[in-house]
Amino acid sequence: MNSIRTALDKNADRVENALKELFASRSVKSEALTGAMKYATLGGGKRLRATLVYGVGEFFDASEKALDAAACAVELVHAYSLVHDDLPAMDDDNLRRGRPTCHIQFDEATAILAGDALQSLAIETLLSERFNPSDIETRAIMAETLACAIGDQGMVGGQAIDMEFTGHLIGLEDLSRMHALKTGALIEASVMLGGVINLRQGDRELDILSGYGRALGLAFQIADDILDHTSDSKTLGKDANSDDRQNKSTYVSSMGLENARTEASRICQEAVDLIGRLDGNTKFLENLAEFSINREY
Ligand code: IPE
Ligand code: IPE
Ligand code: MG
Ligand code: MG
Ligand code: MG
Repeated sequence: MNSIRTALDKNADRVENALKELFASRSVKSEALTGAMKYATLGGGKRLRATLVYGVGEFFDASEKALDAAACAVELVHAYSLVHDDLPAMDDDNLRRGRPTCHIQFDEATAILAGDALQSLAIETLLSERFNPSDIETRAIMAETLACAIGDQGMVGGQAIDMEFTGHLIGLEDLSRMHALKTGALIEASVMLGGVINLRQGDRELDILSGYGRALGLAFQIADDILDHTSDSKTLGKDANSDDRQNKSTYVSSMGLENARTEASRICQEAVDLIGRLDGNTKFLENLAEFSINREY
């Protein structure tokens, strides 16, 4: 676990620097908008999604600059998703990454616009040669991979289901579908982006990566449900018990704490077994799957 922490810290520094460079290359149209975009993106977060990009990319010897573009893109989308997720119209939370949420620090309109702009900046980062040195076809595949994962067929679809299910008791199938979409899709895309830089469609490795990313993403969100219920705001850096307060459908509310823990372990093991099928040393990627459930925040 210590080596994973060290790797996360190293990758957090690396993506933080790449994000700072990205922001520095843009002219400011609105101080408030740029301020909110940076506030939401820089200086916090575990950077698990960036670490997945780097971990998988390094396994397949992808170029460093292309990996930086992909790591920035997934962290930009993730930051946007958190800004919108915390809004009063959604989870109505006040604390994120140990600081006031974006709409509290700025205002709601600025937070909505910052989220919108972060999303398009993510796609721009993958498509523009300025940021991503991959050939045009690879850039297009990377942008497609991310775009398909984060809209109505992926993350936003999952967030919509989350809102619809709030206050309802739902079955395991619906719950796992919701989690797979709202959190799993972006995590799977992070894994895939590390792979598609050098692999080609149809490669056996892509199927393995996709299954690994999906399982890791689902296990990660189950762990998030568990932590929301069992931990405190100081440790999490975000409002604990937010799910109970809002009557959210979670693995804990549906099956109880112990069953949720068992389910997270089972799915994590699926991810570990799957990634172990790649030829080469997959230990780091296995450890990342384990970290996704054995974490304190
Ligand atoms: C929180 O994600 C939101 C979910 C999808 C569960 P993280 O737990 O990765 O948040 P940060 O980036 O570390 O703040
Ligand atoms: C968030 O799920 C999923 C996305 C932001 C897409 P949660 O609502 O459980 O995340 P936290 O607990 O607020 O970080
Ligand atoms: Mg939410
Ligand atoms: Mg939330
Ligand atoms: Mg949560």
